[in-house]
Amino acid sequence: MASQKHISRLSFVIVLFFYCVSCYSFSYHEDVHDYMSPLSRVYTCCIRKALLYMFQDPGFSSSLLALPFDVDSFGAKGDGKKDDTNAFKKAWKEACSSTTAAIFSVAKNKKYLVTPIRFEGPCRASLTMQISGTILASKQESKYKKNEKNWLRVEGVDNLVVKGGGVIDGNGDIWWSKSCKVNKTLALTFYKCKSLMLNNLTVQNAQKIHVTFDRCENVQVSKIQVTALENSPNTDGIHVTHTQNIRISDSVIGTGDDCISIVNGSKNVQATGITCGPGHGISIGSLGSKNSEAHVSNVKVDGAELTGTTNGVRIKTWQGGSGNASNITFQNINMKNVTNPIIIDQYYCDQAKPCKEQKSAVQIKYVTYENISGTSASKDAVIFKCSKNYPCEGVVLKGINLTQEDDGDAKAICNNVKVTYVGTVIPRCSENLVQEQSTLMISYLYLEKVSRNYFNT
Ligand SMILES: *[C@@H]1O[C@H](CO)[C@@H](O)[C@H](O)[C@H]1NC(C)=O
Ligand SMILES: *[C@@H]1O[C@H](CO)[C@@H](O)[C@H](O)[C@H]1NC(C)=O
Ligand SMILES: *[C@@H]1O[C@H](CO)[C@@H](O)[C@H](O)[C@H]1NC(C)=O
Ligand SMILES: *[C@@H]1O[C@H](CO)[C@@H](O)[C@H](O)[C@H]1NC(C)=O
Ligand SMILES: *[C@@H]1O[C@H](CO)[C@@H](O)[C@H](O)[C@H]1NC(C)=O
Ligand SMILES: *[C@@H]1O[C@H](CO)[C@@H](O)[C@H](O)[C@H]1NC(C)=O
Ligand SMILES: *[C@@H]1O[C@H](CO)[C@@H](O)[C@H](O)[C@H]1NC(C)=O
Ligand SMILES: *[C@@H]1O[C@H](CO)[C@@H](O)[C@H](O)[C@H]1NC(C)=O
Repeated sequence: MASQKHISRLSFVIVLFFYCVSCYSFSYHEDVHDYMSPLSRVYTCCIRKALLYMFQDPGFSSSLLALPFDVDSFGAKGDGKKDDTNAFKKAWKEACSSTTAAIFSVAKNKKYLVTPIRFEGPCRASLTMQISGTILASKQESKYKKNEKNWLRVEGVDNLVVKGGGVIDGNGDIWWSKSCKVNKTLALTFYKCKSLMLNNLTVQNAQKIHVTFDRCENVQVSKIQVTALENSPNTDGIHVTHTQNIRISDSVIGTGDDCISIVNGSKNVQATGITCGPGHGISIGSLGSKNSEAHVSNVKVDGAELTGTTNGVRIKTWQGGSGNASNITFQNINMKNVTNPIIIDQYYCDQAKPCKEQKSAVQIKYVTYENISGTSASKDAVIFKCSKNYPCEGVVLKGINLTQEDDGDAKAICNNVKVTYVGTVIPRCSENLVQEQSTLMISYLYLEKVSRNYFNT
C-alpha cells in the first residue's frame, strides 16, 4: 500500500514536471505575458495548466494516477481491417482486475474493428475507458450471433469514466435496410452501472439505438455527439430505461429516431443543453405497450434546441397500459420547424394493425411546459390527445409562443385535458375544457415548489 502511494506521488510529480517543461518551451512564443520575467511566466503557465486540467477534465484524479492498459499492447492492430476483439478482451480483463485505478485505452488516430464484446464488472478498482481513436463494428454478419442484443456492452461496472474524444461507429448501414422484424443489436449499452460518467465522445451509425442506460444509477453524460442518417430506423440517440438519477448535458444528437427516449422505470432524469435534429425529438415513452405497467417520474428537460424534428417534446403511451408518468417539466426550449412541438399522445399505436379501444391507460399528471417558443412545421403546434378514461391531470402551459413555420397561426388540439395557462400562451386550446390561471394559480405555484425541490435548483 505504502509503495503504491509513493508511485502515485511520483507519477504526479513527473506529470507536473512535464507540464512545466512544456510551459517553459511555450513561454518563449507567448507574447501576451511580455511584462513578466521568464521564470514567473513558466510558473504562471504551469499552475494554470495544472488547474485547468484538474477542473476541466472529469475523472482527472483517477486518470492521472492510474495504470494504463492500452489495447495496442495486447495485440490490437488498429488498421480498420484486422479483428481486434481479442486484444480488447484481454486488455479489459487486465484493467478490470487491476488493484489500483486503471485506464483501458484506445489510441488516437486508429480504427479498431470489433465484434460483439462484453466489458463485465465488477472491477477491483476505479476504471477509466479512454477512447481516443475509433471503435468500428464489424460488418460481417456471421460475427453476430442470431438475436445478438448488444455490440458493446458494459455490465456491472461501478465508478466508471468513459471519455477521450473518440468515435464509436456501429457501421449500421448494413442493418438499416433490413426489416424491423430482424433483431438488431444496440450499439453501446451500460447495464447496471453505478456512478458512471460519460464525457466527450462521438457515437455514430448505430445498428439500432446508439447509447442505452439500463438499470443504471447516478449517471452523468456530457458533451456527447450522436449522429446517424435521418432515415436510419430505430436509431435513438440516448435511451434511458429503469435508470435513476441521470443527467445528460451539452450534447448534440441527430438520428433517425428519438434524440432522447425515456422509458419505464426511469426516475430523476435531467436533460440540459441538448441540440436535437434531425430525428423524432425528446420522448417519454412509449409506455404501457401490451397492457404493461409503466412508471416514469421527475423528468426535467431544461434548455434544448430542436430543428426539423418530427416531434419536439413528446409523451407517448399505448392504450391498455397502467402506471403513471408524473412530475415532468419541459422548459427553455426553442423549436425550429418542428412538426409537433408539444405533444402528448395516449393513443400511440406503432404497429401494422390498428390498436383497439381499451379502458386503461398510463396516468399522465403534473406536466409543466414553460418558456417554449419557435416554429411548428404543421398547423397543430400543441397536441394533447389524452386518454378518455384517464384524462391528463395538472398540465400547465406558461410562456409559450409557437407559430407556424410559414407565418400562419398555429393551433392547439386538446382532448381530455384541463390546461392551466400562465402568462402568454400561444396557441391555446379552443375546447372549453380549459381552466383559467386565476383558479389554478395556486396548484401551479405548488407544482413549481415541488419541482424545485426535486431537482434542487
Ligand atoms: C475531447 O477530447 C479531446 C481529446 O482528449 C480533446 O482534444 C477535446 O478538446 C475534447 N473536447 C471537449 C469538447 O472537451
Ligand atoms: C427477436 O428476439 C426475440 C426475443 O429474444 C425473439 O422472441 C424473436 O423470435 C426474435 N425475432 C427474430 C425474427 O428472430
Ligand atoms: C416497468 O417497471 C416496473 C418497475 O419499475 C416493473 O415492475 C414492470 O414490470 C415494468 N414493466 C415492463 C413492461 O417491463
Ligand atoms: C400509479 O399507478 C398505479 C396503477 O396504475 C397506482 O396503483 C399507483 O398508486 C400510482 N402511483 C403513484 C405514485 O401515483
Ligand atoms: C410527484 O409530485 C407530487 C406532488 O405534486 C408528489 O405527491 C408525488 O409523490 C410525486 N410523484 C412521484 C412519483 O415522485
Ligand atoms: C427561454 O428559453 C430560451 C431558449 O429557448 C432561453 O434562451 C431564454 O433564456 C429563456 N428565458 C428565460 C426567461 O429563462
Ligand atoms: C420545414 O419542414 C418541412 C417538413 O417537415 C419541410 O418540408 C420544409 O422545407 C421545412 N422548412 C424549412 C424552412 O426548413
Ligand atoms: C411570438 O413569436 C412571433 C414569431 O417569433 C413574434 O412575432 C411574436 O411577437 C411573439 N408573440 C409574443 C406575444 O411574444
